[in-house]
Amino acid sequence: MTANIDMIKKVYSTFQKKVDHTRKVVGRPLTYAEKILYAHLWEKPNRELVRGKDFADFAPDRVAMQDATAQMAMLQFMHAGRKESAVPATAHADHLIVAQNGSDEDLKRAIEENKEVYDFLASICKKYGVGFWKPGAGIIHQVILENYAFPGGMMIGSDSHTPNAGGLGMIAIGVGGADVVDVMAGMPWELKWPKLIGVKLTGKLSGWTSPKDVILKLTGILTVKGGTGAIVEYFGEGTKSISCTGKATICNMGAEIGATCSIFPYDERMSAYLEKTDRIDVAKLANKNANVLKADDDVYKNPEKYYDQIIEINLDELEPHLNGPFTPDRAWPVSKMKEAVVENNFPDKVSVALIGSCTNSSYEDIDRSASIARQALSKGLKAKSEFKITPGSEQVRATIERDGQLKVLTDLGGQVLANACGPCIGMWKRMDIKTGERNTIVNSFNRNFAKRNDNNPETLSFVASPEITTALAIAGSLSFNPETDYLTNDNGEQVKLDPPYGDELPKKNFEKDRKGFLAPTKNGFKTKIAIPEKSDRLQLLEPFPAWDGKDFVDLPLLLKVKGKCTTDHISPAGSWLKYRGHLDNISKNMFLGAINAFTGNAGEAKNQFTEFYQPVHEVAREYKAQGIGWIVVGDENYGEGSSREHAAMEPRFLGGKAIIAKSFARIHETNLKKQGMLPLTFADPNDYDKIQEDDTFSLVGLNEFAPEKQLKLIIKHKDGQTEEIMLNHSFNTGQIEWFKAGGALNLIASKQKA
Ligand code: F3S
Repeated sequence: MTANIDMIKKVYSTFQKKVDHTRKVVGRPLTYAEKILYAHLWEKPNRELVRGKDFADFAPDRVAMQDATAQMAMLQFMHAGRKESAVPATAHADHLIVAQNGSDEDLKRAIEENKEVYDFLASICKKYGVGFWKPGAGIIHQVILENYAFPGGMMIGSDSHTPNAGGLGMIAIGVGGADVVDVMAGMPWELKWPKLIGVKLTGKLSGWTSPKDVILKLTGILTVKGGTGAIVEYFGEGTKSISCTGKATICNMGAEIGATCSIFPYDERMSAYLEKTDRIDVAKLANKNANVLKADDDVYKNPEKYYDQIIEINLDELEPHLNGPFTPDRAWPVSKMKEAVVENNFPDKVSVALIGSCTNSSYEDIDRSASIARQALSKGLKAKSEFKITPGSEQVRATIERDGQLKVLTDLGGQVLANACGPCIGMWKRMDIKTGERNTIVNSFNRNFAKRNDNNPETLSFVASPEITTALAIAGSLSFNPETDYLTNDNGEQVKLDPPYGDELPKKNFEKDRKGFLAPTKNGFKTKIAIPEKSDRLQLLEPFPAWDGKDFVDLPLLLKVKGKCTTDHISPAGSWLKYRGHLDNISKNMFLGAINAFTGNAGEAKNQFTEFYQPVHEVAREYKAQGIGWIVVGDENYGEGSSREHAAMEPRFLGGKAIIAKSFARIHETNLKKQGMLPLTFADPNDYDKIQEDDTFSLVGLNEFAPEKQLKLIIKHKDGQTEEIMLNHSFNTGQIEWFKAGGALNLIASKQKA
């Protein structure tokens, strides 16, 4: 923790000065998000950056990884030539634990099954000065909030719900593993300057309404795309009626509207949380800087002048919500649920209700849920649905065990799951129904796309607050409205649930248990990285070879893709999650989802030597075995979707030299460049139609490869005819050096050695 407080002191020591400088440069007051962004620029700003247009380089304060993404990130980091991470970093073992029989048994089984992955992460984190939170210690975002997040800071994390830390006034952005590697390697991290959505909260939360309902309502207003490319900044009196952890819930689910991140200004609730989580030193520092850890006064007076869009939510009028099924923006106030169930033929019976997860497992969440459970028990009620509780961290679990909430919830009929992602990410071996059976579940998680929770496309998943989820578990019915409806107890009496209440923070301190944390050590560099010899889940990476200085001649076409080709088409997820740390094995999924433009089938390519159709990765492997590079041709917006670096690494690993498309999704284009590939675009998009199945290609003029200068492609058709076309690219001078070195990490490593 010392490293964290030293880093925080450093950030605050220059924060005010940087904000003053920025105010002068842009010539106007600043929002809170702008202050943090400008204060974290790689270079001192000399002009106002244009929202939604300019790209900027940042120096984040810290990084976080979860175990599924950390494997490849750390394997790559090994090639950066550094002895330790350039910024404080942590990895969290939370994604690989399958929920089945309850916390102890599930954790034990996961530790056995994933032993090699956990041993690998523990050893490689130790080697490079990265903190490692072992399985069972907690879910990444909860652990970050409890230990590392701080007001005014900037963090990136290789998980989409990283913005959870916005509840403590931090700019925290979810990214791919490759971005995390850049920052750990000491490189700047690039982001398009975001737009700003201001959300003004008036009134005060009360009764059954909780912080979760703020974001459920906002998701309904903005839809799943409404926040794309924007930071959501909350302000107004209403923010003060929301606890720090409640704010984190709201920021967490900002990912569901596609927002870059969400943020609340610093206040007393955050200060109280910092103190209670044993960070009185951070609270003192933040209190000293409180005047700058919020927007300037004029922003709050005239918000329309500073935000691109403003949305107002009156907390006095806000109703509890249930969002779903299949998308988090289908928002229903609980009072409308009865009609919705009838009109949409939703199964009314709630088969399973689940509370907790990284989104909603704070002390307050659990205490309020326990208050409902307590009165239900005293009124002769028990949970009608299966009821599961996922604590977000061992700290919360041990505290709610000590303070009695866990007992009340289990007395109601609840089962405690491991402090891990489990059913939130589909790591759930459900026993109560068969796949394909239509059923309703309610949970206090964040995402509810088809198959997300239990891999069953027929599960209708509704997202709600933990309080509403608990009430619905007791009623066993989706259409139950706890604000108005009565329930029949064991004695046949009609009883009503009173609104929940609870403590925001425990009266005594949190139960501190750091057994699950392997702190970075000083002499870790001597640690041997643990990878079993015959592992099928982990594989050390070989640095990709540098460019040999010659033009690419007569490269066969591996695949011409038709239509949409997202990173999921290039490197599908699902069961492939298991191989995230083994490039050779995961490459067997390469292009499995991509449509071959000549056959219309997904995942197949013609081997130009045998003329047989085979899975794309097999053809690529055969070309590679013969020392032949290859090219893939793509359609519009090639590589859209996630920032999954495997989608760029696999083609490179199997011998790809260039991807030529009509256009690229920017993040994937950069990822390809980082791996030493050439993402190129047709100068005339109609040239896409000239590509035939048996073509070979020569890329000429690579020795004069320069920014803004086109490259020439000679297409040789099967009948011997050739055509010449021109290709564009977006490489800058530095990125051309990545290509020459065989990848960005090779270049960094060579600089470290020099
Ligand atoms: Fe895990 Fe679900 Fe959060 S997958 S990190 S608990 S969003």
